[in-house]
Amino acid sequence: MLVIIKDDYEAVSQEAARLVADRLHKKPSLVLGLATGSTPLGLYRELIRMHADEGLDFSKVTTFNLDEYVGLPPDHPQSYHRFMRENFFDHINADPRFVHIPDGMVTEIEAHCQWYEAEIERSGGIDLQVLGIGANGHIAFNEPGSSLGSRTRVKTLSRATREDNARFFRSIDEVPRHAITMGIGTILEAQDVLLMACGDQKAAAIQAAVEGPLTASAPASMIQMHRNAFVIVDRAAASRLSDEHATALEEAVLFRRPISGSHPDTA
Ligand code: PGA
Repeated sequence: MLVIIKDDYEAVSQEAARLVADRLHKKPSLVLGLATGSTPLGLYRELIRMHADEGLDFSKVTTFNLDEYVGLPPDHPQSYHRFMRENFFDHINADPRFVHIPDGMVTEIEAHCQWYEAEIERSGGIDLQVLGIGANGHIAFNEPGSSLGSRTRVKTLSRATREDNARFFRSIDEVPRHAITMGIGTILEAQDVLLMACGDQKAAAIQAAVEGPLTASAPASMIQMHRNAFVIVDRAAASRLSDEHATALEEAVLFRRPISGSHPDTA
């Protein structure tokens, strides 16, 4: 795992965008796993800028989003379909045929989840998966207690997650109770995972993910099992990490360890 600690949200977003752009330059037909939420907004803004200013090309990219609320139609202001269109896809040149987001309105949910998994497999597997983290340690909507080998399925959202996300709705009662989400097993099969977090409200979750025991109580701790995990955080989100990780940061900064190639020197 490579922990990279940056000064602030902007720097986190730029570092994450550099990693995505690097992978895209190396493989124009990249299979990119995408996340929603406040955290990746800066990453998307920077990728949109790179597309406009530097011609970063998404035309051959295949994307898979992590999750979607059950019961929200694609045009609902809080659906993740709409989020992705407004914050990313409307501003780049991704081919809509290669864009995948779980459909929260399907009636045959289980069959849809199986289809989603099969599509990931048909694409050759996800090359790079972008992840946020919940204050309760969830990744995608894999809430604490989720099976560590889980696949795409319906999950009941925890009270904590619904309270966190209530800020986007008129009241907590409007926050959906269920979501379709990639499983932890699905996520861990990505070649690279990029976990981003900012702010001190994420510090405990980042500590548990990076240094805590492997436990279903902190689903993000499973990234410790991944061979190519990048954790890009700001100083506030890193504030509870031990000195070793703080030191790892300084080394990463000092030696400008390339985040593009393989990194056999990282644990
Ligand atoms: P946030 O959500 O980026 O809005 O903080 C992250 C998450 O819940 O996974």
